[in-house]
Amino acid sequence: MKKIFYILIASIFFFSTSCTKEKKTVVKKEIAVNTDQLIYQSKGYKLMEQKCFICHFPKPDPSKRDQMIAPPMLRVQEHYKPSYSKKEDFVNAIRTWVANPTEDKVQMPGAVRKFNIMPKLAYADEDVKLIAETLYDIDFGVSPKMHNNNQKLQLNNGKKWELDKTAITKVNTIIKKLNNFKSDDVNEYQNFGKEVFSTAKTILLDKNISNEKLEQLQAFFHNTEENMHDLIKVKTIEEGQKQQVILKGKFNEFLNFFE
Ligand code: HEC
Repeated sequence: MKKIFYILIASIFFFSTSCTKEKKTVVKKEIAVNTDQLIYQSKGYKLMEQKCFICHFPKPDPSKRDQMIAPPMLRVQEHYKPSYSKKEDFVNAIRTWVANPTEDKVQMPGAVRKFNIMPKLAYADEDVKLIAETLYDIDFGVSPKMHNNNQKLQLNNGKKWELDKTAITKVNTIIKKLNNFKSDDVNEYQNFGKEVFSTAKTILLDKNISNEKLEQLQAFFHNTEENMHDLIKVKTIEEGQKQQVILKGKFNEFLNFFE
């Protein structure tokens, strides 16, 4: 009798805990759905729809590729988060960009070459702040990459593509730094990543380069961009060293295609 009583108590205990566990997961799921929906109803999202979706799609849509006149907002988020991982920095970067879009601030040099630089628009800073906060928080979900990050570079009829001296000097400076950089401070690896990125982007932004040569340069940039982003956001020295080695290989390879 006593045994049965204990089994009964134990099973009641078991069922009641498993029930509360189930309840808890249900509640959690509801909260997740609600925050997603809340963001779409937020003032920031409404403002983004009114002011940014005129030119930017929210997400890449392969069927509307020909209608694209600016990179999708998801891509903007992807390109700003590595350099501005803290919300405050991200929001400020978007605010200063919209207030005055200039090449020195560009995080998407490929988009600038493809669509031309974003026009300066007279938007109220408090609206842009709300938009930027929403853009930081929003989860657009996963989206396939538009470009292949492993595009094979092509020579110019068997010869290297000619660039002007300053571009080659810039690449050589990057390679030299990649060969010599050493630090026991992870922040310095991140700053080094930013430096490599900002030097590399100026090569792509050079308006004298066009057509096929530009396509090759775009391909190189796409192949290396992720590694530069990874270096900018490294959390450990080892990761930094790993990206440094990969980048070294890629920039050395650059000189097999450009001179
Ligand atoms: C008239 C069209 C147009 C509107 C409206 C517009 N953009 Fe853009 N935006 C562009 C184009 C074109 C680019 C790609 C070229 C570039 O990066 O400058 C771009 C790029 C960007 C970039 C990436 C810049 C970089 O680092 O290269 C950000 C950030 C951005 N837009 C934010 C916004 C926000 C926020 C809004 C709404 C407040 C907005 N845009 C409205 C055309 C527009």
